[in-house]
Amino acid sequence: MTYSDKDSMDDLNLPTVIPVDENYGRFSVLEEEDRDASSAYSVASSAYNFRMENGRRYHDYRDGHPFPHDEVSEENEITMHEMCLLILDNKYYVSPIEEPTLRAVADIGTGRGYWAEGLADKCPDAQVVGMDLTPHSRNILPNCSYMIADATEEWVLDDPTMKFDLVHIRSLFGGVKDWHALYKNCFDNLRSGGWIEQMEVEIDAQTLDSDTPPDSNIKALCEYTRSHLSVAAGRDFDISFSMKKMIEDAGFVDVQEKRINLPLGPWSSDSKMKDIGRFYERFYKTGLQGWLLQVCTRELNWSVDQVNAACIKAFREINERKQHWYYPLVIVIGRKP
Ligand SMILES: C[S@@+](CC[C@H](N)C(=O)[O-])C[C@H]1O[C@@H](n2cnc3c(N)ncnc32)[C@H](O)[C@@H]1O
Repeated sequence: MTYSDKDSMDDLNLPTVIPVDENYGRFSVLEEEDRDASSAYSVASSAYNFRMENGRRYHDYRDGHPFPHDEVSEENEITMHEMCLLILDNKYYVSPIEEPTLRAVADIGTGRGYWAEGLADKCPDAQVVGMDLTPHSRNILPNCSYMIADATEEWVLDDPTMKFDLVHIRSLFGGVKDWHALYKNCFDNLRSGGWIEQMEVEIDAQTLDSDTPPDSNIKALCEYTRSHLSVAAGRDFDISFSMKKMIEDAGFVDVQEKRINLPLGPWSSDSKMKDIGRFYERFYKTGLQGWLLQVCTRELNWSVDQVNAACIKAFREINERKQHWYYPLVIVIGRKP
């Protein structure tokens, strides 16, 4: 076969005259918003300020975030993402919405954007907006955009008329100062009939064993986190305990809660639970130091060595493969009436 310009051009499958979308018009809005410092397109430069502390990288935008943002935290995020896909049989959410009907979806505290990007890929007719305090380098999809913003403040969307069918929140524990403000924003930015869905691991190690060592660091760290870290950080590490009530208080109806136990390690005889346990062990091991380090060293007078020693002790307990720990994953969904 010989190369022909004409043939290769014909293969491109593009119209010669570009058809116009009658609904197009939001660029005039963007021009207006571009003058506004809070627009998604004119991000405050402080969002790009990072600092190294005790070998981890943090950002300081809008008061910062007590957890690091670096390669280790990205591994932690992708592990959570893959674990949730396994738990939900490759579904991205449990709210009763047919995927083909999704048009607008928000992912709050999107992080690296694994969930937002995956859903956008699955649902090409949906516009997915990922919102986070922190900039990340992410893959680009035509129907997935990101905004750097504090989700507890007013949401300045590129399209101010946009109302979401689904607002998804996952693993935001320890990050948010004002949950009431966040849930109010979710409510205000959903369309009537739209769903909020939140998933959080409960920081409460439970065990099947009757002979749990009284000096277990896994258990002690949970208790210490719940009793001290939330207060010291001014952010709720315990949100899984209160999110159902807070979501109801924000005006959502048909609020339901589901709890799934995550084995810490591959100790289950069920093959799916075994894999979940592998993921959860990795999530715990890639997360623990980051959850503790800043709050313990800055607010609670721990040394870095003390934090690291506590983590190593907890990891050794897992590696001994004797105990059967599990943590509940709590999923709450609610509908805007
Ligand atoms: C542990 S990551 C979770 C990432 C993602 N949701 C996931 O499950 O893969 C938490 C993210 O929430 C973001 N975050 C915390 N507080 C926030 C806020 N008030 N507004 C927007 N993002 C926030 C953090 O910057 C961080 O990237």
